[in-house]
Order: sequence, then structure tokens, then C-alpha cells
Amino acid sequence: MKKPVTFERNGEKYVEFITEEQIKQRVKELARQLSEDYRDTIPIFIGVLNGAFIFLADLIREMDIDCEVDFVKISSYGSGKVSSGQIKSKKGFDCEVDGRHIVIVEDIADSGRSIKFLEKMFEGTKPASLRFVSLLLKEDNAVVDFKLDYVGFNIPTKFVVGYGLDYDQKDRNLKSIYVIEE
Ligand code: IMP
Ligand code: MG
Repeated sequence: MKKPVTFERNGEKYVEFITEEQIKQRVKELARQLSEDYRDTIPIFIGVLNGAFIFLADLIREMDIDCEVDFVKISSYGSGKVSSGQIKSKKGFDCEVDGRHIVIVEDIADSGRSIKFLEKMFEGTKPASLRFVSLLLKEDNAVVDFKLDYVGFNIPTKFVVGYGLDYDQKDRNLKSIYVIEE
């Protein structure tokens, strides 16, 4: 959904923050890097539902290597803009991960708890490698120690929506990424 640079909904102000073109450009760069790093392998990209579905779809279509796709689903947000901090697994992975190169694809890392939780989901498995890519990273907000191997954009501590990211489950279909101003 294409929207103007700023608009209002339910008394909240949405300000375009990362444009469709900037996202496209960065996704291409990440895809090029991943294609190089995983050349001659067939990695499995595991998207983290719901937020990462659009990023994952765009990312794999910009790559020039074979890959497989799977999804996990976790939830941390109750409703609104504040994470509950309590992460639950709603769906595990279905693929055989042992011996395979696994790349977890997230929309955004904030406190880092979700990334930590995802790492734990793979404890006891034996992938050939396990790496994490996130389109966005709120670089000042980490409350746990975690590592991302690929990051699209470092962003300040603001609530963002669009390109898969939601506010109360809506706004995922915005083509750009918007900040909802306080
Ligand atoms: P973390 O566990 O605190 O790192 O939060 C990560 C998850 O919270 C992400 O996968 C998102 O689903 C959600 N999240 C964090 N920040 C935002 C935001 O600014 N907008 C929308 N969702 C967010
Ligand atoms: Mg998420």
C-alpha cells in the first residue's frame, strides 16, 4: 500500500522513515552478500512470522543461488507498541536442520530477546552453520547479549511499521517503513 510521506490515522502521525527505494536497494545488497557467502551451498532461510514474511520474500528473489524456505512463529507483543518481554513459540521449524546452513530472517531486533529465544530453539540441533539476518536493528535498545550477522538498517529507538512490521497487526502492507510519532 503506497501512502504519502506523512499521514494521520486514529490521531497518530505516521512519518515516512525508510522509503520503498531505500529498502529495495538495501535488500539487493544483502541478497548479493548472502549469495556470495552461501555460493555452492543450498541454505535454508527460516523466516520469523509474522513480521519477516515480506522481507524474506523480497530477499530470496534477489539472490542468485538455490535455497530452501521454512518459517517459525514466535510472539512477544501483546498489543500496542510495547513488547511484553514474554516470548512464546507458536510454530517450530519443520525442516531437517542437521548438516544444513541455516539463516534466520527477522524483521527487527529490539531488546534482542527474540533473537536469543530463536538461538535457543536450535539448541540440541547440529546445523552446519546458523546465522541471523535482520532488516532493522534498534542499536541502542539491546537488553540481552546477541549477535546479528547481517543488518539492513541501524535505527534509533522509535516504533516503526510497514514492510511487514505491524501496529496491532495492521500496517504490515505499507510499502515504506514509517515511524509513528509520539
Ligand atoms: P525484541 O525481542 O525486543 O528484540 O523484539 C523483536 C520483535 O518485536 C520483532 O520481531 C518485532 O516483531 C517486534 N518489534 C520490535 N520493535 C518493533 C517496532 O518498532 N515495530 C513493530 N514491531 C516491533
Ligand atoms: Mg518479529
